[in-house]
Amino acid sequence: MKVDALFSLALAGFCALAAAQPHGKHAHAHGRHARVLKERDMVTEVTTVWTTIESTPASTPTYSPQEVKNLGNNIPKPSVSPTPSSAPKKDNKKDDKKKDTSDSDTSNSNSGVDSNSNTGREFKDGVIPCSKFPSDYGAVPLPWHTKDGWSGIQYNGGNLDNEGVCKEGALCSYACPPGFSKGQWPAEQPASGESHGGLLCKNGFLTLTRSDSKYLCEAGASGITVKNELSDMVAVCRTDYPGSENMVVPLQCDPGTEKVLTTPDADSPGAYTWKGGSTSAQYYVNNAGVSVKDGCLWGKEGGEVGNWAPYIFGSGKKGGKIWISVSKNPNNKKPANYNVSIVGGVSSKKCECIMGDCQGGDAGCTVAVAPGEHATFRLWK
Ligand SMILES: *[C@@H]1O[C@H](CO)[C@@H](O)[C@H](O)[C@H]1NC(C)=O
Repeated sequence: MKVDALFSLALAGFCALAAAQPHGKHAHAHGRHARVLKERDMVTEVTTVWTTIESTPASTPTYSPQEVKNLGNNIPKPSVSPTPSSAPKKDNKKDDKKKDTSDSDTSNSNSGVDSNSNTGREFKDGVIPCSKFPSDYGAVPLPWHTKDGWSGIQYNGGNLDNEGVCKEGALCSYACPPGFSKGQWPAEQPASGESHGGLLCKNGFLTLTRSDSKYLCEAGASGITVKNELSDMVAVCRTDYPGSENMVVPLQCDPGTEKVLTTPDADSPGAYTWKGGSTSAQYYVNNAGVSVKDGCLWGKEGGEVGNWAPYIFGSGKKGGKIWISVSKNPNNKKPANYNVSIVGGVSSKKCECIMGDCQGGDAGCTVAVAPGEHATFRLWK
């Protein structure tokens, strides 16, 4: 049932990147075997960006979201803030990659799902058993999603999320803390357009899949935040990509906080590309009051969480600029219970969504953010 929907961007004359766009109506429940190619243009003050969204069916899933939910209910009740298995702040080598986010104005607190102190540790390739989730190397476990905390488990073209364990031959994917993106995926990707990502379970041990990175999580560009001015928390859920595209990678935005929104840097050498095009991060943004556990998952058709959440945010850096977008999720026509305004950056008009109605209609709006500048997704009533 799962549908992979990716985008690649080709800008007339010059390659630029707009933030990821919605999966569209065909996502998830519909279009199981559909292969849809959509194009739409988004006009910003600086340029017109052509966004190509291609959806390809993932291989036959072995579970329904409901089953995953049930599985989640069977495991010991996860605390909303899983504790990383190692003590914070020790052995925290400062590598270059870490630098990008460490100077961000909202720093991690080293506790809970939103933070992590181990991202700067080189992974011990082929040493950690597949049964051990690699929290010690920056990955963030999602105990409400799979038994061992993996964000997605791809196996021989199928997936093993319902089993929840990383077994021989599987690609086992993981969430990273805010500001960081998963840095592991195989160079060789399926011709179908589906994406693969994560660590490979080989001879019983977790092995790196990307030769040019020894880290599990890598820092993106800094400068983008989500500021929650509401009285309830908002679950911002990134798709696990490249990989399962499960919308399970959480950013928990508590009332009154401003959190870093991860912005992958498509300008960095070795950044993940899809069919030659740059890629960015896509976020499903739930109604206020929905927890990360209840909101960062595959929702049910007609529902309002996960891939049915009211808003979609996108973020990515390309051509020296950061491109961020907000749009209404075409899956969910109901108004959201809060408004979103992008503050900062450059756009031809105000970029905001009032009661779920976004500038730019279905395509939403995109804002360009120059190097060193700051822009915020402001969530307000
Ligand atoms: C959003 O903004 C509009 C216009 O300012 C306002 O009327 C509305 O109450 C706000 N709140 C929600 C929940 O949309």
